[in-house]
Amino acid sequence: MTKRIAIFASGSGSNAQNIIEKLNQSTGISFPCILSDKKDAFVHQRAQNLSVPSFYFPKTDFISGTPIVDFLRKQQIDGIVLAGFLLKVSEPLLQAYPNKIINIHPALLPKYGGKGMYGHHVHEAVKAAGEPISGITIHYINERYDEGDIIFQAQCSLTPDDTPDEIARKVQILEHKHFPDIIAQVFA
Ligand code: GRF
Repeated sequence: MTKRIAIFASGSGSNAQNIIEKLNQSTGISFPCILSDKKDAFVHQRAQNLSVPSFYFPKTDFISGTPIVDFLRKQQIDGIVLAGFLLKVSEPLLQAYPNKIINIHPALLPKYGGKGMYGHHVHEAVKAAGEPISGITIHYINERYDEGDIIFQAQCSLTPDDTPDEIARKVQILEHKHFPDIIAQVFA
């Protein structure tokens, strides 16, 4: 039976778009909706271009969780992919979807994770530490930020000249390359 996967995104949505474009034709998985806590996030535009319905819910709905669970149940959603989603996943969602929520983090966890470590903050910290490598971590979500079981990691090498923007670019290449395949495997 086809698994119905919801994508949560707060920002640009390049991962959301890439996932849908790469997996839409595949059997066994579909993406009936994108949810965002930001009314004007660019992900809504991308969703429209892809003819995927996108929905804005206020932060309070995500924090309480129940309105989101109700919505997802009505949509018969089987699992959730967080693709640049900045809010913590609340208890009702974790209970409704145990081991069925996965996230991508733009660094090699357990380094550069936790509260405040998102977007550019991550790449700036990696740069400041003079790391020779960075990468991506795809992991299950639990009640603590960035601490769920790791499903997959991939790494890229960095040079001392790499700016945070360049690090972000290298990491994004990995995200776009691997995230769709891992989603297909996890929700197969
Ligand atoms: C990605 O780097 C992802 O790892 C992180 O947020 C970013 C989202 O980018 N969690 P986009 O909105 O998919 O372009």
